[in-house]
Amino acid sequence: MEATQAMPVKYDMDVVRWFTIAAVIYLVVGTLIGVYIASELAWPFLNLDIPYITFGRLRPLHTNSVIFAFGGCTLMATGFYIVQRTGAVKLWSNGLAWFTFWGWNLIIVLAVITLPLGMTQGKEYAELEWPIDIMIAVVWLAFGLNYIMTVAIRKSSHIYVSNWFFMSMIIMITYLHVVNSLAIPVSLTQSFSIYSGVQDAMIQWWWGHNAVGFYLTAGFLGIMYYFVPKQANRPVFSYRLSVLHFWGLTFGYVWLGAHHLQYTALPDWTGSLGAAISLAMIIPSWGGAMNGMMTLSGAWDRLRTDYILRFLVVSLAFYAMSTFEGPVMSIKTVNALSHYTDWTIGHVHSGALGWVAMVSMGAIYHMVKKLWRTEMYSDSLVNVHFWLATIGAVVYVVAMWVSGIMQGLMWRDYDEYGALTYTFVESVSAMHPYYAMRVVGGAIYNLGAWIMLFNVVMTVRQASAAHRTNAVPAKA
Ligand code: HEM
Ligand code: HEM
Repeated sequence: MEATQAMPVKYDMDVVRWFTIAAVIYLVVGTLIGVYIASELAWPFLNLDIPYITFGRLRPLHTNSVIFAFGGCTLMATGFYIVQRTGAVKLWSNGLAWFTFWGWNLIIVLAVITLPLGMTQGKEYAELEWPIDIMIAVVWLAFGLNYIMTVAIRKSSHIYVSNWFFMSMIIMITYLHVVNSLAIPVSLTQSFSIYSGVQDAMIQWWWGHNAVGFYLTAGFLGIMYYFVPKQANRPVFSYRLSVLHFWGLTFGYVWLGAHHLQYTALPDWTGSLGAAISLAMIIPSWGGAMNGMMTLSGAWDRLRTDYILRFLVVSLAFYAMSTFEGPVMSIKTVNALSHYTDWTIGHVHSGALGWVAMVSMGAIYHMVKKLWRTEMYSDSLVNVHFWLATIGAVVYVVAMWVSGIMQGLMWRDYDEYGALTYTFVESVSAMHPYYAMRVVGGAIYNLGAWIMLFNVVMTVRQASAAHRTNAVPAKA
């Protein structure tokens, strides 16, 4: 996978180290906010009548911090790492990479300030106001240009499949972000979308679903295709299958957005098309998940001792599960039950906690050891983190499945006179035990993230100390 050559390359890894540390910090913060908003849903007095910390304002702060702060820093750390190592070349521009680091973090700080103040465009996963949207476009383009130019100047003969996934993410997210964010500003802190009514909904979910498809899936598959073979120390099971996976996803995902808008003012056929292509997406998704898993064939025993590999394998199991569940939920009759309920939240978090975050954790542990040329401070703590993350994710997802299906069934239940059997409030109070259970699952997951932060900080300190006494070179 990596090009061999006579002279060792000195890579630009400082920026990767900073992105890696930032990602771990944002994981702790983002999941902590998740636990708080989950607690607000279970015990609403926690809103404390303070507008800045009400559920409505903290929810977008949670989604932005986990998706864009944690997910974004992970993607940029691993992206810059993979593109250099698979191309056997330094970054095209180290300066531009540092601009990306500071620019992205500035955007995160602005999100932390504006969202609790209630400044929002009201579009899910695109809440930030227009001046920040422009900054996102500039910083994202700086990341993308640097990535693509580094691929262009590579020393290896071919472009490894991870880079294809990263480049599809970069190109599609640029296009989606710009089109979805087109708005007419009325002041520095307020703007109105240029779309209205059903067109607005359609553009929003064309963005929303492709943010899932290209950002939360393609980018993290790029991570999976590099780090699973690396950690297992074996070539990917089938390179040909990985290329089919890539083209299957790239052509399929862009057609799916309408499955978020079943039974709305959108023409009926668009929802049917979205559902049909969603079902077809099981094939490339499962092909990819199997490809990752089969990379371990003949080396399954390593799971007993290699805790980092455990993260990567379990993330693939969650990837397979959520890419089966998603297509099922897109079928109209199923969506009639699942839409507006916690089932969707369960689906989101089996993808988010199980797939996105766990593949990131595996990749980050792998990178930390390489970047600081050391062993982890504590392998047992990696194992403890693995179990906390797995148990936390399962408890969260099971709670939401039960509560979601119950909600859906209670809302559609009629008595013999055709009147609703349950009031809405009855369905809310029936949810309470499951909302408390989610808090427990989330808190377990968040505890794992704190342990990861501690272990990573101690590892870096241990490596720096060894470097000072000249025992280990600290540069990758
Ligand atoms: C083939 C793969 C997938 C398909 C076809 C799919 C399909 C769906 C469907 C039908 C919904 C519910 C729409 C609604 O009723 O409102 C949904 C919601 C969602 N899915 Fe998936 N899903 C897939 C994989 C994933 C993965 C891997 C993730 C990763 C995190 C994910 C994240 C989400 C999110 C964030 C939402 C909620 C969007 C919102 O309402 O805010 N999905 N998905
Ligand atoms: C300790 C871990 C976490 C907890 C306790 C948690 C909790 C929550 C809660 C309570 C909501 C609001 C649900 C609602 O409106 O009914 C939510 C939404 C969401 N969270 Fe998390 N979360 C966690 C981790 C994550 C992670 C790591 C990600 C992504 C990588 C993520 C992505 C999302 C998304 C995309 C939504 C919006 C879902 C939708 O609109 O359908 N969460 N989370």
